[in-house]
Amino acid sequence: MIEIRDVTKRYDGTTVLDRVSLTIEPGGVTSVIGPNGAGKSTLLSIVSRLAPADGGTVTVDGLDVAATPGEVLARRLAVLRQENHMPVRLTVRELVAFGRFPHSGGRLTPADLALVDEAIAYFELEPLADRHLDQLSGGQRQRAYVAMVLCQDTDYVLLDEPLNNLDMRHAVQMMRRVRRMADDYGKTVVLVMHDINFASCHSDTIIAMKDGAVAAQGPTARMMTPEVLGPVYGLDIDVHELGGSRIGVYFS
Ligand SMILES: Nc1ncnc2c1ncn2[C@@H]1O[C@H](COP(=O)(O)OP(=O)(O)O)[C@@H](O)[C@H]1O
Ligand SMILES: [Mg+2]
Repeated sequence: MIEIRDVTKRYDGTTVLDRVSLTIEPGGVTSVIGPNGAGKSTLLSIVSRLAPADGGTVTVDGLDVAATPGEVLARRLAVLRQENHMPVRLTVRELVAFGRFPHSGGRLTPADLALVDEAIAYFELEPLADRHLDQLSGGQRQRAYVAMVLCQDTDYVLLDEPLNNLDMRHAVQMMRRVRRMADDYGKTVVLVMHDINFASCHSDTIIAMKDGAVAAQGPTARMMTPEVLGPVYGLDIDVHELGGSRIGVYFS
C-alpha cells in the first residue's frame, strides 16, 4: 500500500502540493489525471524519492520513503519520470539492462538477461537494441525507457505519462502490458495520464488532481462523468458509453 499523508511541496514560496493525502491500495491500475501544472509529476517524484517533500510523509508497504535507502526502495518501486536525463551514449540494450541494477548490482545473471530480452521483444525494440538513445525517435526512446522500468520487476510501478510520443498501436500495447502486470502479477501500477479515455479503458481507479490538491477520486466509472471531469479541466466534456467503457468527448 502507498500511503500519502499531508504531503506539501513548495517552490520559491509557491505551494504546488497542498497537504495531499491519498491511499493507493495494493494491486490494480490507478490513473492520475488533471491539467498541466496540477502537481501530478511532483507527487510522483516525492512518492518515488526523487524529490523531498516540505511536509508530510509517504510510506510504501510501511517504509517511509524519505528515510529508506534508494537501493532498498528501488527493489520495491520503479518509476518512469516525465523527463528522462540518461546519458545518450547508452544503447537501448544497455539502458534496459540498467533496470536490473537494483537486483544484480551490475552482474547480470542469465535470469536478468532473460528479463532484458523479454522486455526488448515486448516493446518491439529488437531491431533497435544496439542503437544509441540519441539515434531513436521520441516514441522509440519512450518505449526503451518503459522497458527499463518494467525490467526492474518491482511490486510498485509508477509511470509519468507513459504514452508520451507513442503511436496508437504502441499506446494500446503499453496499456495492455500495464493491465497484465496488475492482473497476472499482482503489481500496483500508478500512471499519470493525459488521455482520459485511455485512463477510462484501462484503470480501476482514477485520481483527479487540480491546483496542487486532489479534486476527486474513485472507481473509474464514477469518475468518468461530465460533472467530475468538466470542472477538473475547465472544459465541457460529454461522456458516452462505448464498447463497455465510458468515453469522454471534448474535441470541439
Ligand atoms: N523545479 C521546479 N521549480 C519551480 N517550480 C516547479 C518545479 N517543478 C515543478 N514546478 C511547478 O510546480 C507545479 C506542478 O508541476 P508538475 O508537478 O510538474 O505538474 P503536472 O505534472 O501536473 O503537470 C507547476 O506549477 C510547475 O510549474
Ligand atoms: Mg507532469
